[in-house]
This record gives sequence, structure tokens and C-alpha cells, in this order.
Amino acid sequence: MKSTPSALHPPLKHKLLVVEDDSSIATQMKWALAQDYEVLLAEDRVTALDMFKQEAPPVVTLDLGLPPHPGEVEEGFKALAEMLSQDGHAKIIVITGQGEKENALKAVGEGAYDFFSKPIQIEELKVVLHRAFYLSQLEREHDDLRKKLSAEPFEGMLGTSPQMEEVFASIRKVATTEAPVLILGDSGTGKELVAKAIHQMSTRKEGPFVVINCSAIPETLLESELFGHEKGAFTGAHMQRKGRFETAQGGTLFLDEIGELSLSLQVKLLRFLQEQRIERVGGREEIFVNVRVMAATNRDLKEGMKEGRFREDLYYRLGVVTIALPPLREREGDILLITTALLHRFSVENKKKISGFTPQAVRALQAHHWPGNVRELENRIKRAVIMAEGSKITPQDLELVSQYAKYEGHGLKEAREGLEKDLIERAISKNKGNLTKVAEELGVARPTLYELMEKLGLSKK
Ligand SMILES: Nc1ncnc2c1ncn2[C@@H]1O[C@H](COP(=O)(O)OP(=O)(O)OP(=O)(O)O)[C@@H](O)[C@H]1O
Ligand SMILES: [Mg+2]
Repeated sequence: MKSTPSALHPPLKHKLLVVEDDSSIATQMKWALAQDYEVLLAEDRVTALDMFKQEAPPVVTLDLGLPPHPGEVEEGFKALAEMLSQDGHAKIIVITGQGEKENALKAVGEGAYDFFSKPIQIEELKVVLHRAFYLSQLEREHDDLRKKLSAEPFEGMLGTSPQMEEVFASIRKVATTEAPVLILGDSGTGKELVAKAIHQMSTRKEGPFVVINCSAIPETLLESELFGHEKGAFTGAHMQRKGRFETAQGGTLFLDEIGELSLSLQVKLLRFLQEQRIERVGGREEIFVNVRVMAATNRDLKEGMKEGRFREDLYYRLGVVTIALPPLREREGDILLITTALLHRFSVENKKKISGFTPQAVRALQAHHWPGNVRELENRIKRAVIMAEGSKITPQDLELVSQYAKYEGHGLKEAREGLEKDLIERAISKNKGNLTKVAEELGVARPTLYELMEKLGLSKK
């Protein structure tokens, strides 16, 4: 007999849950609908809800009158609410007794997809079911698409964790304002990217985005770098020079490592924030500049205020809006998302065919503490792509070999012996074979050391 593939694997039927306490109606419905759907039957609310949770049927027909009070609608309404709170996309078609239009309408008001009154016209029900399944599938596809789209970078920033969603929401909110923004976060968390994103989304995006790192320039030069100087302002000032504030005219000035700014420059910055005016070094007139200031630091400015290193008034001026970037390890799901994107990017750049990570590498990526945050992740993946010899990246390629990795899959006894052997070998080589010193260092008597070495198969030479 010849059988076509489709006969071997009939297309999967969609699941339909029929909640009906009258067994003759239930059987009749099952019989009529079994050809098109995988029909699940439940006779009361609790069973129905269990099935709903287990099988996740996209469509349900729900008799409102269920035991223990089949004459009333309470159980039915309860079931409706519970199912909808479980899956908001579920299409629930309510079935009522005759002359109960009011309840039917109420159910629709509470989220039911449609209603039917008994006796059920099967052909009519089939049409409604067909449309309900279609709609539910469409909604789910739409949802999936939206999720995929949100994995697209936000102005170059990747992240779908709730923590980063919150950051993106703040960026959207502040981008259109003129307020200064203070960006806080550990090193490598993306502070500069945030500043750029805000600039790009603001009305100043056609203007310049000027970055200055306050800790990279000696204090004596920083003042003129920021505010410019007049000719002859100091030895070596052969001509007038504009500072970064003036270069940023019409755009954004990003002051990185603001925590390092000296107190006297803090005063000048504060004056700008209050009056939008600056004075070049050695200059007499004030110059109006139209610049939005953003600042970033990985230092604790509050600590700086307590110690008198950072002016409180400046802190409050700058921090009208504060955006705090969470450390990478706290961003749920983002490590793998960013990792995948970077792997793709660096493989293309290096013309290497790497298909992914070994399971051990994935585990190592998730277990690592990421003190250097996204910058560290970038560096590790970049390096791993260059080092990788196989088609999958290993913990070794990432330089994330855990000290426990070699004991994985061993029992305690073997692990203990492995560790003992390692320690003894190390001590022997460190003490150049002097076993008296080795025993001393390891805190055991010499005979014990000999015994151990014999047991572990270590030569006494
Ligand atoms: N969410 C992200 N998605 C993708 N890349 C990111 C993300 N956050 C940061 N990066 C990348 O990580 C690196 C560090 O980012 P950035 O320079 O903005 O961090 P930072 O907080 O200013 O660091 P530092 O404190 O060291 O100056 C950059 O190469 C940046 O492109
Ligand atoms: Mg930075």
C-alpha cells in the first residue's frame, strides 16, 4: 500500500476545550467536532481549569451553568475570569440556556469572545469556531513578531530584560526635553551609549554630540579644553581657542567621569547650568551657548558630596533626570541576547564559521559575575571568535574555565583525590622537590605525605 507523508503524519489538530455538564450534549458536540479539532471535555469548573492550564487550548466553549449549581451562572463566570487571567488570548465562547441573553451579553462584556444559546446549531457553531481559531492564531503570531522586534537594538543598545526596558522608557521620556541628564552605572554598562541615544532621539540630533572625559585631561588643561581661552591667557596661549562648550553649540555636551571634576570647575559648570553662559579662560565677556549637558559617572557622587569633593547644588542641577544602568549580571536574559548578536557580528568580521557555544560555555557565560559588564562581554566574545578552533565556542576560548570544571561529572572521592594531587604537585614544584617543606606547607606530617603520594601515584623524585 502506498501511503503519502500526510497520511503518515496527519496535520496536528487544534485543541478545543468543551466545558459542558450535560453529558449527552457534550458527546454530541464531541462527535460533531472531532473531525476538525482535538476535543477535550470537562464537566465542571475545576476540571476545566486544570485542562486549560495543561493543554492550553486556544478556544473554549463554556456552558455557564455548571455544577454544583447548574441552574445558575456563577461557576461559569468564575471559570471565564480564571481562564482569561491565565491566557488573555483565549477565545471563550459562552453557551447559555434559552432566554438568557442578559447573561450572555454580560459574559461578552467580561471578555468572552462570543455566545450561543441552547439548543446549539452545530453548523453555526462550526463557523464561529473556525473564525475564533483563526483570530487566536493571528494574535499569537502578532505577539511573537512584536517580541522579535523588541530584540532589535534600541539606538545600538540590546536588551529585552525588564531592567533595560525601564532604561529605554526613561530615554524616550527625557529625549524630547532639554533637561540635563545624569547617567549612573558601573564601568562598561553603556553610559556613553545612553547619552548618544538621548542625543539621537532629541531635537538636537542634527547638532554635534561632543564627548569629553573629565578624568583623562589634567585639571590645568581641562578648564581651557571645556571653556576655551583668549590669546595670551596663559603662557603658550598663542591664539584664541574655542572650548568644547562652544563646539557643542546647538547640540549635546557629554561630560564623562564627572565625579573627577575639580571643585573650581564644578563652580563654572554650575554657572553654565544656571545661566547658559560661559567665560573663556582669560576672557572678559560672557558667551551665551545653547548646549544640553549630560554627565556620567561610575563613582558614588553622594559619597563625594559627604567628603566635600562634589558640590551638592551641582549634583541636584545635573541630576534633574537620573538614569541608572543596571549591572549586566542583573539583566535577565540579556547576556545570551547580546552574546548571540556579538558572536554573529565578530564571526562575520573575522570571516569565521562559528555556529554557537558549547553547553558548558553557555553555562560559564551565565555563571560569570561580569565585573566589566557589556564591555567585558564584548572583549571576551571578540577574543573567543579569534581563538576558537572548532565550530563551537568553548569556555577555554572565553577564558571562563571554572576551577570546578575539571571535577564535573566525578564523584566526591575522585574530586578530592584530584584536588589533593594538584595541590601536592604544585607544592613540590614550588619547593623544588624538598618534601620536608612540602609537608610543612600542606600541614601534614612527612609520613602522611609519603602515604598520600603513594596512593595518588606520585613519584617521590
Ligand atoms: N545594551 C548594549 N547592547 C550592545 N552593546 C552595548 C550595550 N551596552 C554597552 N554596549 C557596548 O559596550 C561597550 C561599553 O559601552 P559604553 O562605552 O557606553 O559604556 P560606559 O558605561 O560608558 O563604560 P565606561 O564606564 O568604561 O566608560 C561599548 O562598546 C558599547 O557599544
Ligand atoms: Mg564611558
